[in-house]
Amino acid sequence: MDFLRVGDLEPEALGGLVALGARIKSRPDAFTDALRSKAIAILFQKPSLRTRVSTELGVSQMGGYPIVLGQNSVGLGGREPASDIARVLDRMVDVMALRVEQHGDLEAMALAAEAPVINLLSDVAHPCQAVADLITIAENRPLEGAVVAYVGDGNNVAVSLMHAVVRTGGEFRIANPRGYAIPATEVEVAEQFGTVIQTEVPVEAVTDANVVYTDVWTSMGQEAETKKRLGAFEGYQVGLDLFGQAADEAIFLHCLPAHRGQEVSTELMLHPQQRVFDQAENRLYAIKAVLLACIETPV
Ligand code: CP
Ligand code: NVA
Repeated sequence: MDFLRVGDLEPEALGGLVALGARIKSRPDAFTDALRSKAIAILFQKPSLRTRVSTELGVSQMGGYPIVLGQNSVGLGGREPASDIARVLDRMVDVMALRVEQHGDLEAMALAAEAPVINLLSDVAHPCQAVADLITIAENRPLEGAVVAYVGDGNNVAVSLMHAVVRTGGEFRIANPRGYAIPATEVEVAEQFGTVIQTEVPVEAVTDANVVYTDVWTSMGQEAETKKRLGAFEGYQVGLDLFGQAADEAIFLHCLPAHRGQEVSTELMLHPQQRVFDQAENRLYAIKAVLLACIETPV
């Protein structure tokens, strides 16, 4: 099984990943052999902390071989086309996990290779993050009926979160400035599974929500737009006042890295109801679950 987008998953498959991730978290010792003799190629075309550490460590902790490839040495899309890289890796490794600039490269690799391809973030989706997000929400309240309010850019993280929330029985709300919405085609797909509410007014999204979420205004690869985006997102910072409009027991999530003073206030990052670092830790259990599901290991 490839794992490129949450939007490709059946709700049962996604629920299974969340349950498996939670099981791995509670009993990590039961999974120390789960990837025995499996080789996992890992490539990053963009910077990473959480995804890099969780993927490499996750493979090692389950007895597999992580083969971390530097973009400079591989030259994805420059030195060699994605499809040739996939054909070569297919002869040697069991899984390919990549963070890419162009989602199309992942699709080309998935088409060219029999081995599963895992998306470690692309310009359109961040599915491993969404699994960790669901694990984190489920640690705090049932996923069924959860109202998740995302304030900010309708980016890769927002798209995957939306698909994840509606597939697990929640309501997804997003507040974004005009011109920064989630692509309409993605929303149409999500609406087949649950309620999506779109607004340009942050407080409309956040009022009585169970989860408040934000991400950077300028994603990796969009650096040339930073100034324009800082202007467009003025008034979209998630701070204590806005978070105070959410439900009493609401939690605050952010995939990190966070830019205090931009999309999130310094104070909110210190709030007792933030679960941002639980969420970062849960990336480890999420990627372990995704790896096992992709190689179809019976667990
Ligand atoms: N949230 C996340 O994917 O972090 P990194 O970019 O550091 O991997
Ligand atoms: N939207 C951000 C997420 C980083 C984890 C980006 O793509 O840079």
